[in-house]
Amino acid sequence: MVISMKAWICENPTGVDALHWREVPTPSPGEGEVLLAVHAASLNFPDILIVQNKYQFKPALPFVPGSEYAGVVEAVGAGVAGCRPGDRVAALAGVGGFGTHAVVKADKLLPLPQGFPFEHAAAFAFTYGTSHHALMDRGSLAAGETVLVLGAAGGVGTAAVQIAKAAGATVIAAASSDEKCALCRSIGADATINYTTQNLRDALKALTDGRGPDVIYDPVGGDLAEPAFRSIAWRGRYLVIGFAAGGIPSLPLNLSLLKGASIVGVFWGEFVRREPKANAAALAQLSEWYAQGKIRPVIDQALPMDRLPEAYARMASRQVQGKIVMVNQPG
Ligand SMILES: NC(=O)c1ccc[n+]([C@@H]2O[C@H](COP(=O)([O-])OP(=O)(O)OC[C@H]3O[C@@H](n4cnc5c(N)ncnc54)[C@H](OP(=O)(O)O)[C@@H]3O)[C@@H](O)[C@H]2O)c1
Repeated sequence: MVISMKAWICENPTGVDALHWREVPTPSPGEGEVLLAVHAASLNFPDILIVQNKYQFKPALPFVPGSEYAGVVEAVGAGVAGCRPGDRVAALAGVGGFGTHAVVKADKLLPLPQGFPFEHAAAFAFTYGTSHHALMDRGSLAAGETVLVLGAAGGVGTAAVQIAKAAGATVIAAASSDEKCALCRSIGADATINYTTQNLRDALKALTDGRGPDVIYDPVGGDLAEPAFRSIAWRGRYLVIGFAAGGIPSLPLNLSLLKGASIVGVFWGEFVRREPKANAAALAQLSEWYAQGKIRPVIDQALPMDRLPEAYARMASRQVQGKIVMVNQPG
């Protein structure tokens, strides 16, 4: 076992500038834990919030951020059954991924199927799990329905576009630039709306013959929420995923009455905790779709782990298309 490791340490959660890339002793796995050599870790939006003390989960200080990662088991602690040194796994532990090694509770690990690259494994469960739970479970999406995905070129957005297509829906992807719209078409979107240059309501009317989308997937919030909800179809489902734009919007409830439409909350982490069997079934369907080539993480960039601040800056400035992944050099 290596005596020391490197990691981005957060001692003072005031933002990315307060993170430090440090050499620290490699911890030994305790009871029920494993030591993982991290090969790849992806950036999810909550990784921005957690280092500013703005996320709902507030880890004890100091901590290593990095919610989702993948690598190889190096050592296991007492009482760990079901995984052993050499196993390739993905970890959804909330923290720990932005380093060369991590100690993780064994129940936060998922075994990797043969041929599943670490970069994809580190960028999979969080985004695809969220979008599957949102569209298929909370949104009851049926083949032939029309879905509007806002922030469609982002992490959960690209996953939502691919999942909605895999489920047989027509997908309208909406994003803030022509470049992002082109990416969405390349991964299967049937139509796109650039909401920086186009009026969202007019464009939706034109694309749906005035009907509106049956399901709206909204990870952005802010000023887009109300025009989107005003456009929803009869019996539509508006999925509340997140508020990347910063503002938490308010919606006039009469719109819900007039359209017979539902506003549906989505909280994937809580779903995983409360409904493990349903989550396992969703992950099984996602693995099958991955094996069939129907879904595939869009990797914006793979950067060396010590360049984490660049990745944070890219995500905060809305430049990431798909997922940004941090990688450790082998050896
Ligand atoms: N409910 C749940 O269970 C759950 C699970 C996972 C994630 N989430 C939430 O989903 C949201 C998206 O997460 P993600 O990891 O997919 O993030 P992401 O890759 O950064 O995507 C977010 C998208 O939001 C848009 N955006 C608009 N204003 C923005 C701003 N001021 N800053 C950053 N992005 C902005 C951007 O698209 P355009 O430039 O095209 O507008 C961006 O592509 C977050 O709020 C996250 O907390 C919720």
